[in-house]
Amino acid sequence: MNRILIVGATSAIAEHYARQEAEAGSMLFLCGRSRERLRAIAQDLVARGAAKADFAVLDVLDFDRHEEAIEAAWRSLEGVDVALLAHGTLPDARACATDATLALREFNTNATATILLMDRLAGRFEKKGHGTLAVISSVAGDRGRASNYLYGSAKAAATAYSSGLRQRFRGTGVHVLTIKPGFVDTPMTAAFRKGALWVEPHRIATGIRRAIGRRRGVVYLPFFWRPIMALIRMIPEPVFRRLDL
Ligand SMILES: NC(=O)c1ccc[n+]([C@@H]2O[C@H](COP(=O)([O-])OP(=O)(O)OC[C@H]3O[C@@H](n4cnc5c(N)ncnc54)[C@H](OP(=O)(O)O)[C@@H]3O)[C@@H](O)[C@H]2O)c1
Repeated sequence: MNRILIVGATSAIAEHYARQEAEAGSMLFLCGRSRERLRAIAQDLVARGAAKADFAVLDVLDFDRHEEAIEAAWRSLEGVDVALLAHGTLPDARACATDATLALREFNTNATATILLMDRLAGRFEKKGHGTLAVISSVAGDRGRASNYLYGSAKAAATAYSSGLRQRFRGTGVHVLTIKPGFVDTPMTAAFRKGALWVEPHRIATGIRRAIGRRRGVVYLPFFWRPIMALIRMIPEPVFRRLDL
């Protein structure tokens, strides 16, 4: 039975992942900003078969409270086997370009908080000699684009940091997974017009579970984003800057 900590547990992708784990009888500990939503999700997870579903309120920007929330998870579950970092915001790129306070807040949510949480969790897994640290980055982190380069650079930081951790823990029982979803129909992308490349969050959740089970390092979800991003990364900069992607 897996003991799973989810940060950003009210996210649509995280909720679908938690449901699938609940149906497999796992124990879950949820962290997020809204006590009411966490309570409702936890009750739903128990109804779906979770052996346990507990929660703690955590705003990831409250860096000083990270340790407290993580300790609460360890205590509640008597250890953690899998930690999924799912929090994130999609900033208004234009507003951030003229408002440094907003830009910093968005970067801190998507990058700084994620890095600090990765460090604390990796440290605990290292001490125990086992555990999976799974972080939701994005295909947006693979190359900066005019429409969302603040979000992209924050996700690039999360991707690079998790890559470094993965190398550091090679040959140990600590598994680090970087998850790179493409376009997913969730509240974060509610305002976007949806097209052929869009998928539902349950599909991403299934991919996350499979990648954790197979101890993969980096997973693009759905799989077709791997060749798409390989092509996008190969485009020479003088050509790329003329494109409207
Ligand atoms: N949707 C996509 O197309 C897509 C693509 C690539 C990657 N991703 C990534 O996938 C992850 C999940 O996003 P989603 O698509 O499932 O969107 P979502 O449903 O909007 O979830 C985002 C979650 O982040 C939480 N969050 C934001 N700021 C927070 C803070 N300061 N402290 C704690 N929690 C905070 C939100 O909490 P509240 O409920 O309190 O607002 C919400 O639960 C994110 O990392 C996102 O960047 C999404």
